[in-house]
Amino acid sequence: MGVKVLGIETSCDETSAGVVEDGRRVLSNVVASQVELHARYGGIVPEVASRQHILQITPVIRRALDGAGMTLDQIDATAVVYGPGLAGSLLVGVNVAKALAFATGVPLVGVNHLEAHIYASWLSGQRPEVEAGFPLLCLIVSGGHTDMIVMEGHGRYRLLGRTRDDAAGEAFDKAARIPGLPYPGGPSIQREAVGARGVEKLPRAWLEGTYDFSFSGLKTALLRRAQTLGLYPAAQGRGDSEVVRELAAAFQESVAEVLVTKALNAARELRVRGIVLGGGVIANTRVRQLFAERASLLLFVPPAALCTDNGAMVAACGYRLLRLGRRADLSLDVIPDSRLG
Ligand code: KG4
Ligand code: ZN
Repeated sequence: MGVKVLGIETSCDETSAGVVEDGRRVLSNVVASQVELHARYGGIVPEVASRQHILQITPVIRRALDGAGMTLDQIDATAVVYGPGLAGSLLVGVNVAKALAFATGVPLVGVNHLEAHIYASWLSGQRPEVEAGFPLLCLIVSGGHTDMIVMEGHGRYRLLGRTRDDAAGEAFDKAARIPGLPYPGGPSIQREAVGARGVEKLPRAWLEGTYDFSFSGLKTALLRRAQTLGLYPAAQGRGDSEVVRELAAAFQESVAEVLVTKALNAARELRVRGIVLGGGVIANTRVRQLFAERASLLLFVPPAALCTDNGAMVAACGYRLLRLGRRADLSLDVIPDSRLG
């Protein structure tokens, strides 16, 4: 009988819970997305998000337990994200996890959201530390972060570089709004870019000599180009025109090429044994394709559904932290701006 961990994730706009056995086998993973709720505002409204978490969290946990065919007393530990994220959203998950730990007496583990994204690569049977070995280069690309991190061992990280302005996912979200594509921008732009001929080109910010990223200049370049082409301010019904398709593809290509090139250069320079990818933007088909084409060392990429925020990755990470002896107590608090490494 393996160790079963319940993972809870409420850091942003997905209310999620999952049950994972031995840090690798997903028994259930329930994600209640708030996308439709926030789409009408064009982005996440923190107050709306935390209220929605309050409504969703207990039904989501119940469905996760049911899905795993388990009752609460069969869970060996509860893991929850304490940060980084929106304070009001994090509070919901942390409080529920504490209540569960208090009621059942099972261990509580506090998980960093970025570390959870890293451990998504341990799900679906992969074992990066066995197949490749440490050190591993981790690239976590989400709506809030673009972090390049060296993983020296389980629970041991060194931050190499990060975005100096917008996170890549945030840039996708902002860019999509320019020609009037719906939130969230990443999937919208990916959809729009299909079938583009590749006639538009947008700049790439290389930030030579550093492991940092920058995406706000690219977004501004897109805005200028959209103005020149008469696409901005967005006109209704223009969303599927050929120019929008070309611009979406150009934007996606710029982001993908910078992410892939910088990560592969860093991996070579630091002589890591493998690369671990994670975060919502890693769900992008072009980013995945480019990594697969160019990487010459072992690449660990979660399935797209495990790249975006979910409870299973929290459970996978919680299992590992538990083995390292990193238990939290009932004084666990949220840390909205917590870092890794
Ligand atoms: O990791 P995640 O679910 O939440 C955060 O921790 O932020 O990432 C969400 C971000 C959003 O900005 C969304 O637009 C982006 O990931 N995203 C994508 C794709 N799917 C989600 N970006 C590009 N292509 C996608 N297919
Ligand atoms: Zn995330």
